[in-house]
Amino acid sequence: MKEKILKELYVRQGEYISGEELSEKFQVSRTAIWKHMNKLKKEGYTIETTHKKGYRLIETSDKIIIDALKLQLRTKEIGQEILLFDSVDSTNNYSKKIAKDAIHGTVVIGEEQTGGRGRLGRNWSSPKGEGIWMSIILKPSIPPTEGMKMTQIAAASVCKAIREAAGVEGYIKWPNDIVVGGKKVCGILTEMAGELNKIDYLIVGIGINVNNQSFPEEFKDIATSLTIEKGKKIDRKTLIACILKEFETLYQHYIDRRTLDETLEIIRLYSAVLGKTVRIIKGEQELKGRVLEINDEGLLKVQLEDGKEELLVSGEVSI
Ligand code: BTN
Repeated sequence: MKEKILKELYVRQGEYISGEELSEKFQVSRTAIWKHMNKLKKEGYTIETTHKKGYRLIETSDKIIIDALKLQLRTKEIGQEILLFDSVDSTNNYSKKIAKDAIHGTVVIGEEQTGGRGRLGRNWSSPKGEGIWMSIILKPSIPPTEGMKMTQIAAASVCKAIREAAGVEGYIKWPNDIVVGGKKVCGILTEMAGELNKIDYLIVGIGINVNNQSFPEEFKDIATSLTIEKGKKIDRKTLIACILKEFETLYQHYIDRRTLDETLEIIRLYSAVLGKTVRIIKGEQELKGRVLEINDEGLLKVQLEDGKEELLVSGEVSI
């Protein structure tokens, strides 16, 4: 009931709705409506109440509200099913559990992750309400060797979306980080299940530091948030809707035409590594070289110190 009332207030945000209208609409007493309003106020929503006019939502708390998010969503498949948790160990882990029966495009979001995972077995700090911690479950009919292209589609989508919806000039640190001023603002963890020649499902996990005001000492020099960069709070719902729209557009283009051209255009335009000398950790090896190009398959072509050229499929790049 509380969620239904909140949705009504949200849809008619700024407008007064009388207790009588709400009690008729939801078939509960006016006292029940009043109690739910008090609960919502305690949760952080600013609801103006006047005896004559009724209730009016002034400001939403920064909580992600599914109904409010769905109102902003402009996609056909991605995000048609959204699962939102107040707390979850990891949205990638949860997605794995449900992937078999989930529909393509299902999105799992956590307000916090208690066991957020990064690449190379690292932890991913995911404090409550501060970021976007979400996973997209995909079921494409493509060979497993193409699976990692989803990471690039996600990186391009996030980079474009944070520029459009948050006004932050992010750059893509191939293959799966978004950086602002050299500090990481987003990381992507793509995981795949299937057989040698068939993908059962892919999970694209996206972690974005959105409204973090500060970082623990050990991350201060390497991590930042959109709020820190922009100097104001960013609405996470709007940003999620924008990412999912960009993702669907690039994903569908790739599936229909089997070319990454549109994604690569963005990746090259906003590349943090093209033309730069970088250090690359490839398995046990550490290499140093200059990035020559990101080829049409999305691979990184580097010229190593000894002059040799190498094509990288994945790796940890630092500038
Ligand atoms: C990295 O840069 O190391 C990748 C970080 C990926 C973090 C996201 S947050 C949502 C999803 N769930 C996880 O446990 N990890 C990914």
